[in-house]
Amino acid sequence: MPFPALRRPFTAALFLVIFLFSAQIAAPSKSGAGELPQAQSRPAVDAAGHQWWQNAVFYEIYPRSFADSNNDGIGDLPGITSKLDYLKKLGVDAIWITPCFPSPQVDFGYDVSDYENIDPMYGNLADFAGLQSAAQEHGIRIILDFVLNHTSDQHPWFLDSRSSRSSTHRDWYIWRDGKAPNQPPNNWLSVFGGSAWQFDSKTNQYYYHYFYPQQPDLNWRNPAVKNAMFDVTRWWYERRVAGFRLDAVDALFEDPKLHDNPILPGKDAFGDPKMESKYNSHLPEVHEVLQGLRRVADQYNAVLIGETWTNSIGQLDQYYGKNGNELQMPMDFLFTTINKLSPPDFRKQIAAVNAASGWPVYVIGNHDLRRSYDRYGDGQHNDAIAKVMAGLYLTLRGTPILYYGEEIGMQNNDPKTKAEVKDPIGKSGWPKEKGRDGERTPMQWDDSPNAGFTKGIPWLPMPVSYKTHNVADEQKDPDSILVFYQRLLKLRHTNAALLDGDYIALNQNDPHVMSYLRRYKDEAVLVALNMSAEPQTASFNLAPQGFPSPQARTLLTTMPQIPGSVKLSGMRLAPFSVFIGEVTKTHGGP
Ligand code: GLC
Repeated sequence: MPFPALRRPFTAALFLVIFLFSAQIAAPSKSGAGELPQAQSRPAVDAAGHQWWQNAVFYEIYPRSFADSNNDGIGDLPGITSKLDYLKKLGVDAIWITPCFPSPQVDFGYDVSDYENIDPMYGNLADFAGLQSAAQEHGIRIILDFVLNHTSDQHPWFLDSRSSRSSTHRDWYIWRDGKAPNQPPNNWLSVFGGSAWQFDSKTNQYYYHYFYPQQPDLNWRNPAVKNAMFDVTRWWYERRVAGFRLDAVDALFEDPKLHDNPILPGKDAFGDPKMESKYNSHLPEVHEVLQGLRRVADQYNAVLIGETWTNSIGQLDQYYGKNGNELQMPMDFLFTTINKLSPPDFRKQIAAVNAASGWPVYVIGNHDLRRSYDRYGDGQHNDAIAKVMAGLYLTLRGTPILYYGEEIGMQNNDPKTKAEVKDPIGKSGWPKEKGRDGERTPMQWDDSPNAGFTKGIPWLPMPVSYKTHNVADEQKDPDSILVFYQRLLKLRHTNAALLDGDYIALNQNDPHVMSYLRRYKDEAVLVALNMSAEPQTASFNLAPQGFPSPQARTLLTTMPQIPGSVKLSGMRLAPFSVFIGEVTKTHGGP
């Protein structure tokens, strides 16, 4: 993550199946070499030739904040299990759980001290197996978060590495002499502030950390590291994990000659000079590692999702691999840099992603970004705008990844004082960088104290808006954001054009109404999104696309008075509204 630059508008951005499991999954397969666990060995391609992940809706869960089963104020795996009915009803096919492995929790799990276990605060391996079985029954797959750039400084590999210059694991991390006494090896900075080099007096050398000093970078040039990490993925695939989200892949390699990075004008939120991470990110060596990880994943029909912060679509494209042999799902974070409801910007970005060699992956929020409700909201029409954003990214050609709470319009709840901050970057960067607590607050299940998340003291406070924006209340309101998400995802799962159709941009000069056709064989769906605060009128001539019908049959809309059939010429769209309708080849219309 090139954060904090991308997270906050005030800092300049530097860079920016239903595949039927038949077997029970409580225990790992004891199959011999070459024999795969039954569930993963079946082809997971549907009748139209799509891989399971192309038609799936993914949902990111920050386990600390989703559901707390033991009332210690921190969410856990049994909590997630208890909410599978909710997720199924929402229309989720796969959940990505951010790191739940044993960890000192300096970076809330992104500092792993044991890759093959569950942190006791979240449960244990039996709880994981229970979650896995229950998820399977619900037709929901589990994706884990693989933190492969670095470990915790408490991982036994690092403890051994730092113990002496000749230890077995010394070269598993990146150790270098200082340039001179009290001078780090070069000018590289940690994205979390300060030098990326930490002096260790035990052996009088510096180790490299792209993130916190408690997150030393692994040396991926060492084949032993590669083997050990590939084995970790196998270990989880044997436990029926359906894939991984690969953390911080951009940062996997560093220039072995340690060239200084170019300095840019200005300072970042931590007071450090701005810097182009020319020599410690996006190095080409990463592609060989991704190809290796993919070879393993392919043996299990698993999917690899990338945390890929790229400067351009060209760079993103490389992550698919020249022969489509790297990541199936690199996330397009450039989409998240469009922080205003701007049809021209969205059109440009969507066209670029569609022109890339692989399948698009859309996200509008995650645990490192301000919540989309606030980023796009104007303070007055936030609920309507949240539906417009859903109407956009859930109807595009590609796989969406939802962030928990997006579907109920959860708001950011930034700490009010430095003393409240939990995320270390919020402490060191205060007040410019308030950290990421705001977007990680507990899921809002109902309007009872602590939003039904816990009966204990929640690890982070929820925004007061939980009183109105919560699952229980929204479920009862047909106009809620939640019900809109449920309807939209249902439509998406059953409509061939929305799943498989081409994306054809319409009325490309319209500055207010974002519209497009999703066309699949003889079927097509028109999506029209009024991204402005004023009513708009739009006309669509779809004859050139092979759909001469003068009307569309309404499939889903946020406008209450819309009839079942709507004229395509002079269509009136209310402020911040969504219209999704079916058009046909017949001249008379549907
Ligand atoms: C990724 C995670 C972020 C974490 C960092 C270090 O960017 O999304 O939350 O702090 O990696 O592991």
